[in-house]
Amino acid sequence: MAKVRKAVIPAAGLGTRFLPATKAMAKEMLPIVDKPTIQFIVEEALKSGIEDILIVTGKSKRPIEDHFDSNIELESNLKEKGKTGLLKLVEDTTNIGINLFFVRQSYPKGLGDAVLHAKAFVGNEPFVVMLGDDLMDSPVPLTKQLINGHEKTHASNIAVMEVPQEETSKYGIIDPESHVGDNMYSVKKFVEKPDPKEAPSNLAIIGRYLLTPEIFVLLEKQEPGAGGEIQLTDAIDKLNQTQRVFATEFKGQRYDVGDKFGYMKTSIQYGLTHPEVKDRLRDYIKELAGDLTAQDKKTEPKSKK
Ligand code: UTP
Repeated sequence: MAKVRKAVIPAAGLGTRFLPATKAMAKEMLPIVDKPTIQFIVEEALKSGIEDILIVTGKSKRPIEDHFDSNIELESNLKEKGKTGLLKLVEDTTNIGINLFFVRQSYPKGLGDAVLHAKAFVGNEPFVVMLGDDLMDSPVPLTKQLINGHEKTHASNIAVMEVPQEETSKYGIIDPESHVGDNMYSVKKFVEKPDPKEAPSNLAIIGRYLLTPEIFVLLEKQEPGAGGEIQLTDAIDKLNQTQRVFATEFKGQRYDVGDKFGYMKTSIQYGLTHPEVKDRLRDYIKELAGDLTAQDKKTEPKSKK
């Protein structure tokens, strides 16, 4: 059985939910405390045994390439000033321990089209897709969980998670058939962004996919779907008609960094574990909570006597 060695990180989307910040800047470069989102994703790939990553970029995404490249001027400046701790942080982003490749998607035609740009890179091997704006936190990295599942089934394996029923229209949703292990399902159907009234379940596809290379033949023929975009979910549904595609339910914590409120929550959660700021942040949150409670009490309508 072919080992899963390659990952694709689509990062060419327009990031409209984050405008105007994303007008001239990649949302995948938004920092979580002091590290760009995409670096967390590359680190998850590394921890999962991935050797090669293709990052699909587009207009205004150049900083992603620069972030993982060396910056000689900055490095020699830090060296001269004896700032060895900072120098190590900078050097670690270049010597990250994984081979990085880049390709540009000229038009953001959808996630399916972004993944299709990886066809030559992937060749005839199973591979993973890791969305550039979705952070996952769990003791065993989610990408590794998908790879473990694939080693048992030899099939495609898509990460899913329960979402509130009213939010199904934001996600690809699965119609689960039956349990095939603790947290794995066989799937009847994959549906992109169904109306909550018609959604077959509330198990939503989240940003990690393990796919067999047969997906590319289907993506080449895939017509635009929901939102006029070439949807990866639609091609996965077709793949499921010719070979088995499983879904693995994620039980860890997911952070949607592409969404304003999701981004704020992520920054706070990571801040609370960051050695440099965690204590001050905790004190600040407690103080703020006290102030807000006092404010709420003041504005509460007075009860009639
Ligand atoms: P999203 O739908 O979350 O990203 O796609 P978006 O389109 O950039 O965001 P909004 O909805 O306008 O705010 C999930 C991932 O797929 C990538 C995005 O960069 C993101 O990481 N993507 C999406 C592409 O690479 N190409 C596309 O054509 C669409």
